[in-house]
Amino acid sequence: MIPTGEFRIAPSLLSADFGSLAQAVGEVAAATSWLHIDVMDGHFVPNLTIGPPVVASLRRHSGAFFDCHLMMTDPGAFLEQFHTAGANLASVHVEIGGTDELIAKMRRLGLRVGLALNPDTPLEAAEPYLASIDLLLLMTVFPGFGGQSFMEEVLPKIAAARHAIDERGLPVTIEVDGGIDAETAVLTAEAGARVFVAGSAVFGDPRPWEAVERIRAAIVGAFDRREADLGR
Ligand code: DX5
Ligand code: ZN
Repeated sequence: MIPTGEFRIAPSLLSADFGSLAQAVGEVAAATSWLHIDVMDGHFVPNLTIGPPVVASLRRHSGAFFDCHLMMTDPGAFLEQFHTAGANLASVHVEIGGTDELIAKMRRLGLRVGLALNPDTPLEAAEPYLASIDLLLLMTVFPGFGGQSFMEEVLPKIAAARHAIDERGLPVTIEVDGGIDAETAVLTAEAGARVFVAGSAVFGDPRPWEAVERIRAAIVGAFDRREADLGR
């Protein structure tokens, strides 16, 4: 049986009330140790969200693992600021290029390294970097906004990434982001994802901590049933 600890729910603050972020962070603190922070530059995506000063403020209210998703054309110019602000991991998008330099810079700073792929970017774009990253973020919506519908056509790419990572024995975690709820979390977990970003499914719930538990329970339940079916 796969231990529960191998599945992590990363609530996305994008769907929280930006006027009460510290409260939102507190609401999920006991349910999960990860927090997904969506940084948008109004250029790579048509939306603006938060930057290093807000990450630094959140750090004063949280001991969580800050998983910063940098939807930016030029993240390299800000990596140091995000690190100083308290980011633990930063994901940069492969579509912007300069990936080798960005990975080297993140390593130099001591950031965990994530590489993000849009839904229509093939896995081949990430393959040269798989041995150099900690996390592969496979978008299951086009980035820019919360509350969009899960794109199930990404499932084969998740399965192919799982296969490539396992075949090479690489310590890379697969994260999915976009339209994740209790149902789609199970589909992506079965395809090979281990970190599940959920924005509206968590902060759209009046009891966000219960929403986190519901998503985790759905995944664990599905895996337990699968093990039982296999007669183990
Ligand atoms: C989308 C962001 C996501 C977003 C997910 O651009 O990267 O992290 O917050 O929101 P939901 O879970 O509502 O699709
Ligand atoms: Zn995100």
